[in-house]
Amino acid sequence: MTIVRATFLDTPTGETAMGAELRAATDAALRVVDGTIVERGAWADLGGRHTDDDVLDLRDGLVLPGLVDTHVHYPQVRVTGALGMPLLEWLDAVALPEEARLASPDYARAVAREFIGGLAGAGTTTALVFGSHFATAVDALFDEAQRVGLRVTAGLVVGDRGLPEALLTTPERAYAESIALARRWHQSAGAGSSPRTRYAVTPRFSYGATDALLESCQAVLKDVPGSWFTSHVNESQAEIAAVARLFPDATDYVDTYDRHGLVGASSVLAHNVHPTDRELRLLAGQGATVAHCPTSNAALGSGLFPLRAHVDHGVHVALGSDVGAGTGFSLFKEGLQAYFVQQLLGEAGLPLGPADLLHLATRSGALALGLDDEVGDLSVGKAFDALWLRPAETSPLALALRHADSASEALARTFALAGPADVAGVWVAGEPVKS
Ligand code: GUN
Ligand code: ZN
Repeated sequence: MTIVRATFLDTPTGETAMGAELRAATDAALRVVDGTIVERGAWADLGGRHTDDDVLDLRDGLVLPGLVDTHVHYPQVRVTGALGMPLLEWLDAVALPEEARLASPDYARAVAREFIGGLAGAGTTTALVFGSHFATAVDALFDEAQRVGLRVTAGLVVGDRGLPEALLTTPERAYAESIALARRWHQSAGAGSSPRTRYAVTPRFSYGATDALLESCQAVLKDVPGSWFTSHVNESQAEIAAVARLFPDATDYVDTYDRHGLVGASSVLAHNVHPTDRELRLLAGQGATVAHCPTSNAALGSGLFPLRAHVDHGVHVALGSDVGAGTGFSLFKEGLQAYFVQQLLGEAGLPLGPADLLHLATRSGALALGLDDEVGDLSVGKAFDALWLRPAETSPLALALRHADSASEALARTFALAGPADVAGVWVAGEPVKS
């Protein structure tokens, strides 16, 4: 039994980030038993009643729920920060040649260590991860996630056209390898007590897929109950035009997935920077999530995300770092960039407050992944998945936090200034993540 003593900030209510309410508890306490929060209240009360419990004193700084990244690429950690190219050129020149290197199991294991370390170091405790085109590399990813203790939903990335030869598969091979991986990792308990790894059916994007491959994806989704679906959609204008040429009988980009039964409440589509009204209606109607990846959208010049249109249509939106087109693992940076984009859109933008940003980076992601009963906030009954933000004493963030007049102001300053160097501790289900 442990009592965690700290200032806790979270956004436990609401299905959407917009208008989120911040809950702030100063000199408060959470009682954690077997990884689950069983009591929450003032330190003076809990500390006085449970004098035999261990005390984890995190008063210096802030404690937030572990962050939830709903779109991030494992094989791209070493090529993050290649600026100056639009999507299709960047894929050809940077991302896909690096992804081919994961054919080597040794290379993949090293990248998996760097990737999982990068997520944990940024305070991300739960992620929907784009895996690799190679099954051995996907094994390496899950192995490392399990060793460190993160919650990872991921799968074999599949494509059967429009990609370098080394990355291509066939619908039959994609099905067989995906099912074999799902048997090994879907809802697999590993060392811990409750399952932290799940399978995600992952066609790279319709630009790299035939109808036959998407049909095989549908079969995996059906044959692996509880599996997730993820891909890319409507990211850049050139990509959208190419997809329209490849699927002349599809109504639009979303339809290339939907007509194979791939758009539902367990689907997360990344980007959607240039959607039509019909696509937004469909995504909302089927309960799918859009993973908004603002630093990637800016780095590749993909466009300014129409958040207001998503919200007006009732489409669920969460946040993704999209490493390596995105410029780092920190969801604080993604939150800040999401805020910037809406500011720059002027009248068409949707102003985001600090609580909206925290919701986007935590509870919105938990809802997107169907894990909101377990993670995303620090209420009683949830797992103690958390990060301790304790900046170096003389850092600009420490100074700004010291001079914040309210919890909301402290949170705004956190999104403006925090990065992985300020994350002093990370826990999943009450256990410190292993480095
Ligand atoms: N579309 C297809 N593959 C990718 C990728 O790796 N990154 C991004 N941002 N978009 C993609
Ligand atoms: Zn991506």
